[in-house]
Amino acid sequence: MDKELNVLKQETLNAIGKLADNKKLNELYLDIFGQSGKFTNLTKKLKTLSASEKPQIGRLLNEVKKELETAFEKHKSIIRNFKLAEWIDVTASGSGPSTGHLHIVSQAIAEITEIFERIGFTRMRYPEIDWDWYSFESLNMPVNHPARDDFETFFIDLPSNPKLGKVVLSPHTSSGQVREMERVKKPPIRMINIAKCYRPNWDISHTPMFHQFEGLVIDKNINITHLKGTFDYFAKEFFGKERKIRLRPFHFQFTEPSFEVDITCGICSGRGCRFCKDGWLELGGSGMVHPNVLRAGNIDPDVYTGYAFGWGVERTYMMKQGLKIDDLRLLYSNDIRFLEQF
Ligand code: PHE
Repeated sequence: MDKELNVLKQETLNAIGKLADNKKLNELYLDIFGQSGKFTNLTKKLKTLSASEKPQIGRLLNEVKKELETAFEKHKSIIRNFKLAEWIDVTASGSGPSTGHLHIVSQAIAEITEIFERIGFTRMRYPEIDWDWYSFESLNMPVNHPARDDFETFFIDLPSNPKLGKVVLSPHTSSGQVREMERVKKPPIRMINIAKCYRPNWDISHTPMFHQFEGLVIDKNINITHLKGTFDYFAKEFFGKERKIRLRPFHFQFTEPSFEVDITCGICSGRGCRFCKDGWLELGGSGMVHPNVLRAGNIDPDVYTGYAFGWGVERTYMMKQGLKIDDLRLLYSNDIRFLEQF
């Protein structure tokens, strides 16, 4: 009889494991422990055994009963938990996978590019590691000229070129001006050069790597009204229709005359507030291309004239958002709590 009991136990355990709903589990339970269940029938046979067999089989019956009942209970809770997990509220709002987005500087670059492309500018890119010639000398800043001090520069530890000088990390996108003249050879030129620039500054308003967008337009009869008209167009497209620009006299070696370009503050509309102080925000430098720069690019300054401007992408974008970031380095710290906000 002990053999029969073991077979019944094994078969029952196997059957329990296969069941996935309570009704079937109850049916199985009755099939085993019901009035004429398989187990019940076996217990009835106990009477027929000899006195010497009875205690041993009796013990075995108790053990098997306990084991099977525990298995039934356990499986009941397994079915219950499984049902809970399976239950789906189809009316609940979904939680899709979180998606990323372009970095704010990439967003700004895309937007700036599009605005200038609409009026015939071509997006260009020139080397981040360049010769002194393109960064300074061709821009009317001979070696040892004090104007170079305005552009603190990383020098690369490489041998100099007899004609082009030292190797530098380009400190401004103006290094693309003469390269563009060399590429196009004969004007018209309408370039928008957006690239990384490097200067050894690291504080709340400077990162050693930043971005500039540089416009260069060269053709016959280009004058200051073209420069001003382009800035007006950009200001209205990028910042909004109500914004105005103004030119302030300034000095750059590579432009003559030179200007700083200001735009009316978006927060106070030019009346003056805490953010801007006097109603104007500074966009960046510009001017009419210096004849020496045209000559360096093999363009005859008696035939052609042009204008150029170079503004910071990060700065311009912050101005658009009306944001005064306490620490510009946040832009490049990859803190998701900051980046998510744009
Ligand atoms: N390259 C200048 C700077 O980095 C800006 C500039 C560009 C000024 C073009 C005039 C013309 O500050």
